[in-house]
Amino acid sequence: MSEKPKYYITTPIYYPSAKLHIGHTYCTTIADCLARFKRLDGYDVLFLTGSDEHGQKIEQKADEAGVTPIEYTNKIVGMFQELWKELNITNDDFIRTTEERHRKVVQMLFQKAYDKGDIYKGKYEGWYCVPCESFWPENKLDENHICPDCGRPLQRVSEEAYFFKMSKYADQWMKYVEEHPDFIQPASRRNEMIQFVKSGLEDLCVSRTSFSWGIPVPFDPKHVVYVWFDALVNYLTAAGIVDDPEKFKKFWPADVHLVGKEIVRFHTIIWPIMLMSLGIEIPKMVYGHGWLIVDGEKMSKSKGNVIDPIPLLQEFGSDAIRYYLLNDIQLGQDGNFSRDRLIGRINSDLSNDLGNLLYRTLSMAEKYRNGVVTKGDASGDAAIAEASAQVEANAAETLQALRDGMNGWKINDALKAVWTFIRSLNKYIDVTEPWVLAKDPAKAPLLDAVLYHLCEGLRITAIMAEPVIPIAAEKIWNQLGLTDFKSALLTDAVWGGLPDGIQTKKGEQIFPRIEIEETKEEAAPAPAKAAPAAEVKKEEAEEALPQISIDDFFKTDLRVAEILTAENVKKSKKLIKMTVSLGTETRTVVSGIAQYYKPEDLVGKHVIFVANLKPAKLMGIESQGMVLAASRDGELVVPFVDMPAGSRVK
Ligand code: ME8
Repeated sequence: MSEKPKYYITTPIYYPSAKLHIGHTYCTTIADCLARFKRLDGYDVLFLTGSDEHGQKIEQKADEAGVTPIEYTNKIVGMFQELWKELNITNDDFIRTTEERHRKVVQMLFQKAYDKGDIYKGKYEGWYCVPCESFWPENKLDENHICPDCGRPLQRVSEEAYFFKMSKYADQWMKYVEEHPDFIQPASRRNEMIQFVKSGLEDLCVSRTSFSWGIPVPFDPKHVVYVWFDALVNYLTAAGIVDDPEKFKKFWPADVHLVGKEIVRFHTIIWPIMLMSLGIEIPKMVYGHGWLIVDGEKMSKSKGNVIDPIPLLQEFGSDAIRYYLLNDIQLGQDGNFSRDRLIGRINSDLSNDLGNLLYRTLSMAEKYRNGVVTKGDASGDAAIAEASAQVEANAAETLQALRDGMNGWKINDALKAVWTFIRSLNKYIDVTEPWVLAKDPAKAPLLDAVLYHLCEGLRITAIMAEPVIPIAAEKIWNQLGLTDFKSALLTDAVWGGLPDGIQTKKGEQIFPRIEIEETKEEAAPAPAKAAPAAEVKKEEAEEALPQISIDDFFKTDLRVAEILTAENVKKSKKLIKMTVSLGTETRTVVSGIAQYYKPEDLVGKHVIFVANLKPAKLMGIESQGMVLAASRDGELVVPFVDMPAGSRVK
């Protein structure tokens, strides 16, 4: 058997100096999506992330907190690891630069470069950015001495230091970058780096003496190794350069270092030159992604515009956050984080397109076939046969588009292709009208073929969507009645893999709709039509809405409510705001009935009220329930009842 191909992907190792924010999760989510995709594609993957714990910044933060640096980093690193779990990140290793396995590698390589004559002692006189841990020579600054990367004030530094002969390798670097056009991606970042080197490469200061939180220089322990020299080496440590030569031989060079655009310079200039000096192969690619921005600015603690990922994950779940980051933000460019767009994507792409497709399909399988799906035969109807063949062709094309997108750094395109396929399955339902086929026993083979095509399309979708929405993908798989999702591979995403006669197991809607805090009138839902867990269309609604148990029905707390006050909502043609009494309590409710009732005609009336509906905001007013109304063809009637407020309706 031939050995599996390998794929080594890394994220930056994060500074534990600040709480992680949604911007940090962006890079890790992209890396996780690619790592999962490569595993699905049969690769042996090493996916690395970790923490960058040394340096002046961390020492200062620990001082401010009144704890030792390691106490400080231990606490924050624990929080990072928790976050990666919440986000469903499948890193194979988590490296901490404070680990012993890393110290020995850094010291060994520093010694090696020194022995080679590429490290020499001198004195650093210049500027330093503590937040970026970055040296800035005078010739790259203006008279304000502001960090060109982060815009914060620089510190004047004057200390004995070791220097690394970067300048010696400038020509070799230029040649390498010319011969390896893929090394720096996207291409715009490559041009930037070439310009940077052309403007002159100075030797790099690689040790510090004014503080002690770092790895000691092996031959001169009053120096600690410069934190970027230390940090970059993490990629070698984790690949096993010292501890596991077999692993190192297999995984090095890394296939890609995925990094934010502001640290492309460290990864594409300093890092390959360190490796050239050490005689170690250079990674195949550094990909610089853009930033997640809020109102045009990079998220950062100092700007106070940080969005904490934990409450978002708790509110929407990891699949939804992953899908939003990977679909909505154009890879390589900056992208604005928007909660409204996140909710929009959940409700349209995840709930409406995918969740409803699964729910509709399995509802029909349950209703017409007790959940058992057999292959059937579409040949008895030319239109259905053609639509079915088209679905099969679409599945194959989508798989190819997924591969092209994921391998070609066009994750957005890959996802678009998968969702186009999902939408095509929804259209297939509309075209084939299974509820019509179900009425004619002679059309049973056609109905079977349609249900099979839908379930098989969903099986293939589950595999293709796994890198992005792994939890939902597994739920789809299990609801189809399949087992062992973990073993599924991309090669299984070919037509015909769904066993004939499988017993499906319909479950809950996998992506419930998010009730939007309405600020726009147009978006207000009509009364009495609570957003259903899964929207089912027109004729199909009567046919395919599942039966519910009496217990399910009793989950809705219906009460008689007396309308105490009613007034039109300002600037709204549709909404009336009311206060209603439920006998023991008073609620505020907003209802879209202004075109049918005058407020004064409502006061004193007794209506049927959903008392346990989650509150939602309409035009900035919190609506704490819902008044029931019957509607048909644009007509709307609120039933009034002659019972005391608080009576239970059942
Ligand atoms: O730079 N949007 O660590 P770090 C997207 N320790 N990405 C963002 C972001 C945002 N709003 N904010 C931060 C370091 N990032 C070093 C790395 S690697 C050997 C050492 C990204 O914690 C940022 O671009 O400051 C970077 O890639 C990563 O988070 C870590 O940033």
